[in-house]
This record gives sequence, C-alpha cells and structure tokens, in this order.
Amino acid sequence: MTLSVEELLELKSVTRKIAEEIAQNYRSLISIALSSPHDLASQLNISLNRAERIIDEVREKVGLIPTTADELLEIETKRPTITTMSTNLDGILNGGIPLGMITEFSGSFGSGKTQLCLQLCLTVQLDKSEGGVEGSAYFIDSENTFSAARLAEMANAPDYPLEPKKVLKNIHVAKAFNADHQASLVQQVESLIEEENIRILIVDSIASHFRSEFIGKETLVRRQQLIMQHAQQLQKIAEIGQVAVVVTNQVLANPDAVLSGNIEPALGFAWGHRPAHRIFLRKTRSTARIARIFDSPYLPEREAVFHITPYGIRDQPIGF
Ligand SMILES: Nc1ncnc2c1ncn2[C@@H]1O[C@H](COP(=O)(O)OP(=O)(O)OP(=O)(O)O)[C@@H](O)[C@H]1O
Ligand SMILES: [Mg+2]
Repeated sequence: MTLSVEELLELKSVTRKIAEEIAQNYRSLISIALSSPHDLASQLNISLNRAERIIDEVREKVGLIPTTADELLEIETKRPTITTMSTNLDGILNGGIPLGMITEFSGSFGSGKTQLCLQLCLTVQLDKSEGGVEGSAYFIDSENTFSAARLAEMANAPDYPLEPKKVLKNIHVAKAFNADHQASLVQQVESLIEEENIRILIVDSIASHFRSEFIGKETLVRRQQLIMQHAQQLQKIAEIGQVAVVVTNQVLANPDAVLSGNIEPALGFAWGHRPAHRIFLRKTRSTARIARIFDSPYLPEREAVFHITPYGIRDQPIGF
C-alpha cells in the first residue's frame, strides 16, 4: 500500500508539489503522524511551520486528537488484547497482552521470556473469537535466540488452529547486531505497520546491547539518553500504530531490590517507567513458571502460574 497524491491533497496544508514529495518518501499516513516536524521539514524541504501543520492534520485524520475521559474509557474497555494461550496469565492481564501499550517480561535465564514472545507471534494471528487480532508479528532478536524450529513446533500444536506454513510467513524476524542497529530497526517498523498489518512488535531483549556496549560510570548518561529515545520510539509505535509492543528485559542483582530474591529488571529508571505493564517471571523446579505483575497503571499486583510445554505456553503441562 502506498500513499496516493489525491488522498494527500485532501489535507489543507498540502500542495500538489508537497503531495508528490510525500508520496515518494512516505509509505503511510501513520509514518507521517509518527514523524517529528523537524524530520518532515528537512525530508520535504519545507518550513518547520508547514511541517507542523501537516503533521497536525494527519494526526487528526488518523484519529490522534485529544479526547475526553469518557471516550477514553470506551477505548480502554474495548482495547484489543492478544492471548498468551494460558488463561491464568491472560486472567491477571485482564484478557491478554494489550495493543497500544508496552508490556515488559523480565526474569532470569530460562524463565520463559523468549518462549512467551514466540507464542505471541502465533496468537496475534488468531481471529478475535480465538483471542487474537488477525495481525502479523515483527520480532527483533538482539540475543540471537530466536528459533524458527521452536516456533514451528508451537505452530504444529494440535490446539493451534491455523496452518503452520502460512503463519510462519506472517512473522518478520530481524537480528539486531548492536544498540544502534536495534534502534534503527524499530524506526523501520513504523513504515511497515500498515503495509504488513503488524499488530505486535517484540524486542527480545531490550537490554543486552545497551548493557554490553556501555560499560562504566562515564558512559551511563549517554546510555540512559539512548534508552530513553528508544523507549519513546517504542511508545509511539504502540500508541499511534495501535501495536502491542512486548519487550523482554534481563535481571541484575540488587541487594535493595524489593521484587524478588534481590534481583530486579535491568536499565534502571530511564526505562522503568515506560512499560505500562511489567511482569516478572520466576522459575520453579518443573515446567511451571510464576508470572507476577508488579507495576501497572490499572492492574493490581497478582500472580499466575503457567507451563512451558512442547506446544508452547499453556495452563497445564502436556504429556505427563
Ligand atoms: N521444545 C521445548 N519443549 C518444552 N520446553 C521447552 C522447549 N524449548 C524450551 N523449553 C523451555 O523453555 C526454557 C527456556 O525459556 P526461554 O528461552 O523463554 O528463557 P528466557 O527467559 O528467554 O531466558 P534467557 O534470559 O536466557 O533468554 C527452557 O529452559 C525449557 O524449560
Ligand atoms: Mg530469551
């Protein structure tokens, strides 16, 4: 899908020449709505003032205008969610992973973060009656742990209703080689949201490159700045694109941590206030995992137990 010049000419602040330039440089109205006036002005070689007017008009056109609390309540109660395939976990999330927000899963190695992300790449494609939103997935793999074979195993589960070969085509995977690359991949997703009907963006994990590239106290300020920019970008994609943004986060030791066993999610405050929901995963001796919501603007702190089975995330262990 590309933007048509005629469609752009419906905007009052757009001349034919500007419309032609936009059609060449932008793939969707959403990507214009997500731009900063500064970027749009330099891309189209127009004044900052005109760029601001165009962005305002586009934002209005795609429904991004200020609203009242009662309208927001309506939106919030109707907010679509994506099932995790565990009714226990969906239960503490009021239905599943919400679109339009950032959800973070943190926990130690093997706690199930990547397994959950893989599962969501499949469930996002289900139709509404089955807990999905009929969308596709974009998976940014920064730890080199994405496994297509594991995904195929989950897609072949007898209780997963879609054709495995078809669903794998709707999962876009990009490896992030460093922090800068990770941020630029996120930026590229913007223009694909409409074209590819992306409804979930996964970053597994948000932290690893930032933590390995910025070592020592003197790099801390720069690191926090970059993380904040990255987080802002993710937030924009979630809100404006109505995408579920799911990120995983590593944990690190902190003797003062209140959460669990003296560990807490990495990246500190610069990142910590961004996710709407933060969920901490704990291992047990079995396939069971305990998920605890610990920071959410509207969900209470509660826990749920789910299992990592050969078929994916489920309420019960399968096969024994
Ligand atoms: N094919 C499978 N069948 C059943 N369980 C599996 C399968 N593959 C992985 N698991 C389970 O999932 C666990 C790994 O979980 P996952 O990869 O999600 O951890 P993680 O939280 O992402 O860890 P890390 O921080 O190392 O990335 C394994 O320890 C195993 O218990
Ligand atoms: Mg992992």
